[in-house]
Amino acid sequence: MNDQKYQKVTPELIRRLRFIVGDKGVIADEGLENYARDEAPHTHSVLPEAVVFPHSTQEIADILRLANTELIPVTPRGAGTGLSGGSVPVHGGIVLSLDKLNKMGEIDEANFCASAQAGVILSNFCAETEKHNLFYPLYPGEMSATIGGNIATNAGGMRAVKYGVTRDFVLGLEAVLPTGEIITTGGKYVKSSTGYDLTQLLTGSEGTLAVISQVTLRLITPPSIREILLIPFNSLSEAIRCVPVILKERVLPVSIEFMESDILQLVKDYSGKEFPIPGYPAYLMLMIEADNYDDFGKISEHISEICLKNGAVDTYVPGSASAKRRLLELREYFYPTMQHRGMLDLADVVVPRSKIADFVEEVKRISKRYSIPIITYGHAGDGNVHLHPLGPGVPSEEVMTELLTEIYQVGATMGGTISGEHGIGADKKKYLSLLFSAEKLALMQRVKKAFDPHNILNPGKVV
Ligand code: LAC
Ligand code: ZN
Repeated sequence: MNDQKYQKVTPELIRRLRFIVGDKGVIADEGLENYARDEAPHTHSVLPEAVVFPHSTQEIADILRLANTELIPVTPRGAGTGLSGGSVPVHGGIVLSLDKLNKMGEIDEANFCASAQAGVILSNFCAETEKHNLFYPLYPGEMSATIGGNIATNAGGMRAVKYGVTRDFVLGLEAVLPTGEIITTGGKYVKSSTGYDLTQLLTGSEGTLAVISQVTLRLITPPSIREILLIPFNSLSEAIRCVPVILKERVLPVSIEFMESDILQLVKDYSGKEFPIPGYPAYLMLMIEADNYDDFGKISEHISEICLKNGAVDTYVPGSASAKRRLLELREYFYPTMQHRGMLDLADVVVPRSKIADFVEEVKRISKRYSIPIITYGHAGDGNVHLHPLGPGVPSEEVMTELLTEIYQVGATMGGTISGEHGIGADKKKYLSLLFSAEKLALMQRVKKAFDPHNILNPGKVV
């Protein structure tokens, strides 16, 4: 599907783009290198031929119509914080930045929702809604991402155990098709049995079907308090095996993260950030919401008891707001630490929660067999495991592909899938056929063709 030839961005095309977005809205030389990659560790950078910054949905439509007629690839881009190469312009052409579509829309207290342009930064969206005492609970860990980018990848993050993922909060979208047509999907309602659900189809489509320009997201009432419970174990397997036991109880933590001493040591070496109770091989970090501190005390006591009966060696609650913040910051440092350490790759396999310990054990066996260290950590409460193969050696691309293929196959055999939250992008596309039948892939390609007959929209990604 991607073997086709595209046209080059000519000076005449730049002139026409400038006519649409104004002189300042196009980069055609200096600065292009800032749009050649995202934060994926593995994707090769590719320089776009032009970057355009539309100010409105209509300008997006005009750009797409032009690119569609002239056969120029268009790669939509939010904040560029993606981890799968989804916003790398692998065929050159135009990068369409959503930077200037950064205005909040209505915050509707009665209907518990807010709308925003797709380029609004997640932290700003949350801050604005909080002014109305409403809460957007998604926490992908990267608050400088855009709302549109989160929707395009169906970002998940740490609070999925209780709240689910981005798609559970998308009520409606405005999106522009490659032909320049503008569609709206969904609305300020929570139920719909009215035709195909295009909102959900566009969510997670990684900019391959349409450019999302405006979004309406569901909000909730903010929790009264949110506290952390840190639980050390003598082994990772004991830690993870505790997770289904906790989840069977009538308390639902917001998140249950797992981590081992290796990542904590690397974070310390890199950032100087010290873990509050070091020295144990593995930990669970739980986030718990409650109405008040009494309730939190009861819940944390109950969970501690369960964990202590199931292999935990201690429990720890950070005593102050600053200790809590330091712990969260430390968790947010995992990925930057891996970037700094020169990880060879990054995977975000998801398996059924009951299989997560078996999966991680199998990954460790594979790591030994290949003599490639693999750091694992992640979202134990929802089965989403992050894996970082590390140096010192730099294996060939074939070996890395073989290693990851084995890992993805193990995940698939356990009933899981390749990406839980980072998306397929350019990086994981070659692995899709491990999981999807030829018929299913062909169906996805027909869906792509129905939206984007000339294959100009983020070509080289997903299918
Ligand atoms: C995290 C990113 C890598 O969980 O998804 O830190
Ligand atoms: Zn994650």
